[in-house]
Amino acid sequence: MRALLLLLCVSNVFAEEKDPKVIIVGAGPSGIAAASKLLQNGITDVTILEAEGRIGGRVNSTIFGDYWIDLGGQWVHGECNNVAHDLAAPLGLLSKAMGPGRPEEEPVNHRYYSSEGEVIMKELGVEFFTYVDESAHGSAENLKSGSYGERLDNRLNEYYNNHTDKITPDMRNGLAHAVKLGLMALQGATDLNDVSFKMIQEDGGSSGFSVVNWKDRAYATILEILMKKIPNPEEELPIMNKTSLNKKVIKIEYNGDGPIKVTTSDGSEYTADHVISTTSLGVLKADHEKIFKPVLPEKNKNSIESFGFGHNAKILLYYDEPWWDTTESFMNLLIWREADRKEIENDPEKSWMLGVAYSLPVEYKPKLLFLWMSGPYCEQMEKIPDELFKNQTLGLIERFFGKSYNLTQPKDIIRTRWNTNENFRGTYSYPSLASVANNASREQLGTPVMRNDKPVIQFAGEATEPHDYGTVHGAIVSGWREADRLINFYKKKN
Ligand SMILES: Cc1cc2nc3c(=O)[nH]c(=O)nc-3n(C[C@H](O)[C@H](O)[C@H](O)COP(=O)(O)OP(=O)(O)OC[C@H]3O[C@@H](n4cnc5c(N)ncnc54)[C@H](O)[C@@H]3O)c2cc1C
Ligand SMILES: *[C@@H]1O[C@H](CO)[C@@H](O)[C@H](O)[C@H]1NC(C)=O
Ligand SMILES: *[C@@H]1O[C@H](CO)[C@@H](O)[C@H](O)[C@H]1NC(C)=O
Ligand SMILES: *[C@@H]1O[C@H](CO)[C@@H](O)[C@H](O)[C@H]1NC(C)=O
Ligand SMILES: *[C@@H]1O[C@H](CO)[C@@H](O)[C@H](O)[C@H]1NC(C)=O
Ligand SMILES: *[C@@H]1O[C@H](CO)[C@@H](O)[C@H](O)[C@H]1NC(C)=O
Repeated sequence: MRALLLLLCVSNVFAEEKDPKVIIVGAGPSGIAAASKLLQNGITDVTILEAEGRIGGRVNSTIFGDYWIDLGGQWVHGECNNVAHDLAAPLGLLSKAMGPGRPEEEPVNHRYYSSEGEVIMKELGVEFFTYVDESAHGSAENLKSGSYGERLDNRLNEYYNNHTDKITPDMRNGLAHAVKLGLMALQGATDLNDVSFKMIQEDGGSSGFSVVNWKDRAYATILEILMKKIPNPEEELPIMNKTSLNKKVIKIEYNGDGPIKVTTSDGSEYTADHVISTTSLGVLKADHEKIFKPVLPEKNKNSIESFGFGHNAKILLYYDEPWWDTTESFMNLLIWREADRKEIENDPEKSWMLGVAYSLPVEYKPKLLFLWMSGPYCEQMEKIPDELFKNQTLGLIERFFGKSYNLTQPKDIIRTRWNTNENFRGTYSYPSLASVANNASREQLGTPVMRNDKPVIQFAGEATEPHDYGTVHGAIVSGWREADRLINFYKKKN
């Protein structure tokens, strides 16, 4: 009896508006999560239009050397209140260890290498790193600009002044530069002086630094879990069949009462009752006035223009014979001496190297060395020709690590290009000073455009999540949120 009633309900849900047509713009984690939830709740006329030739968006797992690697989202950030963790952990896919048989909570060795190749800060290293870490918490009250950058500078100056014997004036700028790049990676910012310290206190600055890895797999596994291909391939939802690749949406016309018209750059036209846009904040900033006709309401526009969209990049090197100790976990910070920095800072071909914050090993993939970059330097790096880029990267490694290690030659090298790619235009969103000044909020960013009581244009994506922004799990939650909005709308109608 129960089952029968349920069946009746499901078939009645869409009695009035028979099978609403939904277009999802973007096949990143938020778009795929939205489609998955819609399909499982009886809304099946779903089309995903994706500009790139692949699904996944800022989750981009690819083969490199013998490994699956992540060019975008890589770690599951946090174990609690994290939907990605909840989905993957029960399937045994996640780990906190460096690799098989290696301890879970291994201490990370923080080391500082100067641009002259010396190991510096040997005595203070750990203490200094902890001190910098703690700068993330505190009161924003006494800050003039209100920025995280100002907060950090104040703290660093106090530290330097107490340690004049161990930290020479020549090292100060280099240390500040390196820790700022590192914190910009955490915050997803282009400039730490543009991050609102107040906002990161209030929203917890995303889900912290906890890093859980996918063992020998990579983050794109989450897409297969969302599509229900994992754990049981026979239960796969037809999401791939509803996805069209290389379809870049250039116009969304939602004037009047008729269906919404969506146009792609190849001239194809689609109609829909609802559009869920999941494009990055970077894409919205650049294109929202061109794409949406009529232009979006003031509230959406304000938050799109006010929030920040950061720039980060990865460089990965594959070594048949790693030159570092593959049994340890480390973060090696690159500290530029003043004279060395000055020598390259105005050289348009070399200054990108100042954006490399640190090198790390990669869990379960011992032959990989990972360089992390932040800030405007990333875009410069992306434009350097292949051969020159390789030569410069090897030169950089030689410069900082060549005196401490017997270096070997990498077999392969790969870099990301998120910032110059017009389907992303950056990496992830951050709470900027302008978003505070303009009273913008992530709720505003995710506010749908309504027609009477009906959501017509909806927004999902990492940047629209108030707490878990900047992450894959935040993107998934945002996709589910917008699917639920539609599911509830049609429930209420009946
Ligand atoms: C280098 C890097 C490292 C990261 N590391 C981590 C990490 O370790 N852990 C973590 O949790 N998160 C990490 N993130 C963040 C995480 O990857 C993102 O927050 C998340 O993937 C965003 O998903 P989304 O669905 O909101 O957007 P996206 O993944 O950007 O999906 C949007 C999709 O829209 C498409 N699109 C854009 N414009 C158009 C158009 N006009 N028409 C049609 N389609 C369009 C894009 O091609 C894209 O596929 C990282 C991101 C980057 C870039
Ligand atoms: C610097 O020294 C003062 C005085 O000893 C102390 O109160 C303060 O906590 C120190 N700050 C740092 C960052 O070491
Ligand atoms: C996708 O479509 C093809 C061809 O129509 C079909 O064979 C396949 O089963 C579909 N896949 C899913 C997961 O529904
Ligand atoms: C980079 O190229 C220069 C000039 O050709 C060369 O002298 C140098 O050895 C190269 N460096 C590396 C690390 O390959
Ligand atoms: C580098 O190789 C030399 C010669 O084999 C050796 O003496 C030295 O200890 C090695 N250095 C390091 C850091 O491994
Ligand atoms: C932001 O909100 C505050 C308090 O509600 C108000 O005083 C201020 O004028 C608002 N600023 C803008 C730019 O809307």
